[in-house]
Amino acid sequence: MRTKVFAANWKMNKTRKEAKSFLEALKKSKFEGREIIVLPSFLSLADAVKACKDTQIRIGAQNMHFADAGAFTGEVSPLMLKDIGVTHVLIGHSERRHLFKEDNALIQKKVASAISHGFHVIFCVGETLDEREQGKTRIVVREQMEALRGLKDAEQLMIAYEPVWAIGTGKTATPEQAEEVHSYIRMLIAQLFSKSAAEHIRILYGGSVTPENIAGLLAKESIDGALVGGASLDVKSFTKIAKA
Ligand code: PGA
Repeated sequence: MRTKVFAANWKMNKTRKEAKSFLEALKKSKFEGREIIVLPSFLSLADAVKACKDTQIRIGAQNMHFADAGAFTGEVSPLMLKDIGVTHVLIGHSERRHLFKEDNALIQKKVASAISHGFHVIFCVGETLDEREQGKTRIVVREQMEALRGLKDAEQLMIAYEPVWAIGTGKTATPEQAEEVHSYIRMLIAQLFSKSAAEHIRILYGGSVTPENIAGLLAKESIDGALVGGASLDVKSFTKIAKA
């Protein structure tokens, strides 16, 4: 049985004060048999780690540089994240790929670095609307998944399938559309790692997840949770999703 996991991707939202009050409220709920991850901005990470010590809430960064240190103005290194007690890192989010031009080669370096530093990695893949309409969804997802080839250990890995056309648009993939890609990703994991890795690795769905549509998605065999953007900014709606 794969434990369901729910991650709140706040993106560039919430001041430290807002982050603190969200986490205080979230801590009051019990999420039995579920894994909860919150991904605040870099500036709120240290406070968030402290606030969630001895709770079931894990704290992750939304991005990371691959190098331990160096002349990389404006970047944050794995050592800095480790130093403050961060345990999870999101890598390859479509906004990083499309708005900040991160390519598969760079993302591959980041994943390898994060895994070697012992982080749990939520690795994002997904096609644009154009790519879907041209029938290229599988090709794109397969190319993105190639970034995982050669990793020694798949233990610390989760995959998030986020169709770019569904992110922040209010358009969700139907449970059937999502399941089709999730089971394809599971097959790719078996090829890249092993059959047992394919059985254990959680694949989250992301893209306009709400309290209303989550149950239909979770009912599918290969959907093991959600990476939630917009609906994770409100503690009540994120709590409803994570308890669905
Ligand atoms: P959304 O974002 O839920 O606002 O569509 C999801 C994500 O980008 O992680």
